[in-house]
Amino acid sequence: MEGKKPSTTAINDHTYRIFPNDLNAQGTVFGGLIMAEADRLTHIIAERHSGRICVTASVDSIIFHAPAGHGDNLIFKTSINRSWHSSMEVGIHVVAEERISLERHHVVSAYLTFVALDDHGKPTTVPPVLPETADERRRYDEADLRRSNRMAQKKEFMKRRKKGSQ
Ligand SMILES: CC(C)(COP(=O)(O)OP(=O)(O)OC[C@H]1O[C@@H](n2cnc3c(N)ncnc32)[C@H](O)[C@@H]1OP(=O)(O)O)[C@@H](O)C(=O)NCCC(=O)NCCS
Repeated sequence: MEGKKPSTTAINDHTYRIFPNDLNAQGTVFGGLIMAEADRLTHIIAERHSGRICVTASVDSIIFHAPAGHGDNLIFKTSINRSWHSSMEVGIHVVAEERISLERHHVVSAYLTFVALDDHGKPTTVPPVLPETADERRRYDEADLRRSNRMAQKKEFMKRRKKGSQ
């Protein structure tokens, strides 16, 4: 299967203007809005890369580094880091941009794993990722470590679930 470069499927500056109905009781942006938008955008990357219907398999820990407020622009940047057999890790980086000064600060980053499905809804092979830049190569290498952690967590969860069901 022919590989694909991350730059051919990336989204570089998806921009969302925060309105009053996007705010929580503290007057900062509702975290769930950012999570939903991140899931939608990374899902697009996985489907662009695989050419298949994909499902979200897992989301690595999400840390909100700083809040964003009414009138700020949220700017989402997302690209694929690595693929394995049927799964793909997609990274997303979100910054808030003050609407007049255009000053930016980092709000959140996350890694999401998607699985490509065949016509019967079963996991199916996806193309390899061909990193080009130094950053892409670093993300590619680091993704393997995160995958090992995810698999260890899943194994632990399955073990506990099995014990609980006995
Ligand atoms: C994701 C899903 C298809 C995996 O199915 P499964 O029976 O566990 O499949 P397998 O064990 O054969 O694993 C298939 C791939 O998923 C990956 N995977 C499974 N669970 C995972 C997890 N928790 N985190 C990351 N990757 C995972 C495996 O590593 C494997 O990747 P590989 O083929 O690249 O090696 C299945 O759990 C599922 O359908 N979950 C619900 C998805 C969903 O509804 N998402 C929200 C809406 S889109």
